[in-house]
Amino acid sequence: MRAFMIVTTAQLYKVAYGKYAVGAYNINNAEQTMGLFRGCIESQAPFIIQISKGARKYTEKRMLEAIIRSAEEIFPDAIFAVHLDHGDEETCYDCIDSGFYSSVMIDASHDPFDENIAITKRVVDRAHAKGISVEAELGMLGGVEEDIAVDEGNACLTNPEEAVEFIQRTGCDALAAAIGTSHGAYKFRGQQSLHFEVIEGIQANLKAAGMPPTPIVMHGSSSVPKEEVARINAAGGTLDPSACGVNENEYLPAAKLGVTKVNIDTDGRLVWTRVHREYFRDKPGDFDFRPPGKTFIDEYAKFIAHKNKMLGSAGTIPAIRAALGI
Ligand code: G3H
Ligand code: 13P
Ligand code: ZN
Repeated sequence: MRAFMIVTTAQLYKVAYGKYAVGAYNINNAEQTMGLFRGCIESQAPFIIQISKGARKYTEKRMLEAIIRSAEEIFPDAIFAVHLDHGDEETCYDCIDSGFYSSVMIDASHDPFDENIAITKRVVDRAHAKGISVEAELGMLGGVEEDIAVDEGNACLTNPEEAVEFIQRTGCDALAAAIGTSHGAYKFRGQQSLHFEVIEGIQANLKAAGMPPTPIVMHGSSSVPKEEVARINAAGGTLDPSACGVNENEYLPAAKLGVTKVNIDTDGRLVWTRVHREYFRDKPGDFDFRPPGKTFIDEYAKFIAHKNKMLGSAGTIPAIRAALGI
């Protein structure tokens, strides 16, 4: 059995860098996976499947692997890589040794700078020995990452000079930079924009240091559509209507500056919540999970196709096949 899926994360970075962003979507179960593959085939876009520690626990890591391998057979034209999202050192090693992931994220951003570097470097050494690439985080996003809460006041943007030292000393392949976003549905108060100057600063400092450009990863990229929140609340939800996310029109300008992987999870959860709340509001006597599950797959596929359009990755599969000879 082939270890990696058809492409590696590093290959996707290479074809997309500076042109468009590749959507990195979290998966937790079969319905979400079906919707993801369908949406990416419909929009002819490459994608990165990312699996969090929570997802590995929820569905069992081997079940997720089996679901992905089956999806690959059902959708043989899909172009995707598999990635560990927000790993700790132990989980990174488990994924590296499994042979199933083509990249891992080590998230030691909550540790002091030198400790973050030491941990990241250990993971990079183990990963590179097996041809696996590493995403590492510097700076702190607001919101909630796995079980660690970073309160909004403490969220600190990545320092471009530190970023260069970090990349140099760790040898990481991609940098998750704090550029103003946070995880979850409550990202900003009022109208806010991405901190493009941080992205530009990182690339300028890399260039000045004679280093190659490094793909930047944007976490907390969901856009939290107002309409989705309103529909959820109209169907019995109690989300704060001030919930607010990243302006989707900023994805592509960020991609042109080197944001090559854009992580989206919350928006997909909102689709799931809207579909199920509306279904059971309208059919309170039903108890078969398949009808809402089917609607969810359809709606999730539509949502993914839309995101890929906004990321600029839609329609790029033929060019990727030609570039990679696959
Ligand atoms: O950044 C975290 C992702 O949204 C994954 O969330 O850890 O609850 O699976 P999770
Ligand atoms: P959102 O919460 O904005 O979807 O971000 C997801 C993410 O960054 C996963 O790593
Ligand atoms: Zn994240």
